[in-house]
Amino acid sequence: DIPIYTTVASYREWRRKAFVENRSVGFVPTMGALHEGHLDLVRKSLAENDLTVLSIFVNPAQFSPHEDLETYPRTLEHDLKLLSQQQHILLSNTPNTHSTSPITGGQPSHIRRPSAVFLPSVSEMYPHGISQDARQQRGTFVEVKGYADEQMEGKSRPGFFRGVATVVTKLFNVIQPTNAYFGQKDIQQALLLRRMVTDLLLSHPSAQNLHIVPTVRDPLDNLALSSRNAYLSPPARKVAPTLYNALKAAEHCWFLEKKSKKECVDAAREVILHRVRDTELGTLDGGGVDVEIKLDYIEMNDAEDFKVLEDEVTLQSRGEDAS
Ligand code: PAJ
Repeated sequence: DIPIYTTVASYREWRRKAFVENRSVGFVPTMGALHEGHLDLVRKSLAENDLTVLSIFVNPAQFSPHEDLETYPRTLEHDLKLLSQQQHILLSNTPNTHSTSPITGGQPSHIRRPSAVFLPSVSEMYPHGISQDARQQRGTFVEVKGYADEQMEGKSRPGFFRGVATVVTKLFNVIQPTNAYFGQKDIQQALLLRRMVTDLLLSHPSAQNLHIVPTVRDPLDNLALSSRNAYLSPPARKVAPTLYNALKAAEHCWFLEKKSKKECVDAAREVILHRVRDTELGTLDGGGVDVEIKLDYIEMNDAEDFKVLEDEVTLQSRGEDAS
């Protein structure tokens, strides 16, 4: 029973009322297939804003032709059910609570629930159409150059950040959020978008109101929750937390053992390669099952420009570059 807006025009009508009533709007952009990671962002937004809007849009421009646009999980009914179960209860004399009004659907003023879902079609977001092939794309795009776009995920997935920056600019233009919430799981995406907001002089949200929320993990084995985890076969799902273990190994090496960058990257790589060898030998529980692990990249990167960090030739302070 959360109102769903499928067109830009109908959403704008709702947003105009929120401006008139001077209510803050928190925004959580997603591609759907919601899980606790997304819901944590929603709860953060509920706690910090009068109104909360979530968008669900599987954005063709951020998938390359060989990627999973067609098969990306789409679970709309379940998503809406999960969303309708989220609420934030305000303590009775929290300042800044508004009395009931049509825009909150007549709910008691101390209970906040998601106020709107923006669920646009592809043609609503791309009025002149969109090709999945970056070379064929015509029209207007947003690129954040020389920052994070050529490193890490930018290097591994050409056109990905261009697609993300373009769609998020469009979404910000429509939703006009006071605050926006992104997951630390995709830290490169979040920092790139914050940089974009600064560069484009956006005010809804401002860069300081683009919030980054810690990664939500499976409580049993610490694998980061992700919509794409649905693709993992049971044996692959068993192997996947190796990623987390590798990160932990690097963290331990860096902060506790205080070793060099190279040694810490090697420590993380070793955790993964070790697991690959285990898997090949079939020594995992449920052994003998074929789980292919291909290491795409493993690097320690600068939190400012995402350049790969190498060990300094001279021994300098190891202070602030631990990211
Ligand atoms: P999606 O993968 O659906 O993720 C939506 C938001 O949820 C992102 O900000 C992501 O970082 C956050 N998120 C996902 N898993 C999380 C977890 N385990 N813990 C915390 N946050 C998590 O990211 C996208 O969609 C798209 O690129 C989008 C920004 C919507 C643009 O199309």
